[in-house]
Amino acid sequence: RLKCLSSSVVLSITVLAACSAFLSSSSFAPTSPQAADLTIERNPACKPKPDPSTLLFGKQFSDHMLTISWSEKGGWEAPEIKPFQNLSLHPATSALHYSIELFEGMKAFRGFDNHIRLFRPMLNMERMHRSAERSCLPLFDKNELLECIKKLVEVDQEWVPYSQTASLYIRPTFIGTEPSLGVARPGKAMIFVIVGPVGPYFATGSFNPVSLLADPSFVRAWKGGVGAYKMGGNYGPTIAVQNEAQKRGCQQVLWLYEEEEQITEVGTMNLFIYWTNTKGERELVTPPLDGIILPGVTRQSLLDLSRSWGEFKVTECTVNMKELLDALDAGRVLEMFGAGTACVVCPVGSLLYKGKTYQIPTMQNGPDLAKRFYTELTDIQVSLLHV
Ligand SMILES: Cc1ncc(COP(=O)(O)O)c(C=O)c1O
Repeated sequence: RLKCLSSSVVLSITVLAACSAFLSSSSFAPTSPQAADLTIERNPACKPKPDPSTLLFGKQFSDHMLTISWSEKGGWEAPEIKPFQNLSLHPATSALHYSIELFEGMKAFRGFDNHIRLFRPMLNMERMHRSAERSCLPLFDKNELLECIKKLVEVDQEWVPYSQTASLYIRPTFIGTEPSLGVARPGKAMIFVIVGPVGPYFATGSFNPVSLLADPSFVRAWKGGVGAYKMGGNYGPTIAVQNEAQKRGCQQVLWLYEEEEQITEVGTMNLFIYWTNTKGERELVTPPLDGIILPGVTRQSLLDLSRSWGEFKVTECTVNMKELLDALDAGRVLEMFGAGTACVVCPVGSLLYKGKTYQIPTMQNGPDLAKRFYTELTDIQVSLLHV
């Protein structure tokens, strides 16, 4: 089963306060934010919580935020939880000019037992750390940052919806705040974390399959590039392609790569194909982490779960469009779905490729596997299923 899957957010403020005197007496520039130094300024004007049935993704935010500033000279400053507010940035801030920015996306769930849990948060911290290294942003201790995030969730715990289908979305963000225009490693930076309630992706409770545009003239990421990191710069340029997909009657983009049209990701999700392979074996396939794929937490969880079942072959390998179309033609494709934090799994219903629409029989096949993944993962998240 999935190891270290969720982590309780209950923290002891007493213990944190006790350590802080020791750490703040150090005369060295701190090489990581320290959760023990965290200060909390409570918001005197908390907002009313929205009705979970009306939630729109990324539009509602809680009453507090976490900020942690860094400078080359002073190292990491004490983390602060304070009332949710605007940032004040110098107009030359390097994040605004050169996209020295990265982010994470994770969720906190209120369980059946009323405990609040984060889903495999260390995987997000590890990915954030890798993105920071690639962005020339200062490194941090992953455990310390996670402790600060847990504290923010604890302070805003009433914002974690009292619902087994809604959750609290957590957006850790890391920006270069160097106030100068040279294209260089920033001498100032800031981590900030904002959180807000989000509703179920499939509001009706049943899956809605998506239609995909597969056009090899658009590329999301390339070998030697930064597609494997969660940097803001990877996302802005995809919006025009997403708009193009919509113009052509599709909901999302199936990202292809190189001459052989490797299938890489779908929208902002990892892609899975469940089929009978050319050897006649039942197999779940997802593209390998070869530098152009974002290493999704959900992707890893589906691989871990299906390998623990041991019921069919589970393979990380490249599949190209020709192989997919041959399999569709031969009736070997059972299900195709995206996987990500937002929806867990999202069935694919059709594909528009070179002017022709191909139907994918995901829904006709249940989708048994996609539903099983959805149920098992969401049951773990709300603690119906213990691991
Ligand atoms: C490009 C891309 N692929 C895949 C994913 C899925 O990752 P995760 O399961 O960690 O949400 C995301 C999610 O943000 C993404 O942006």
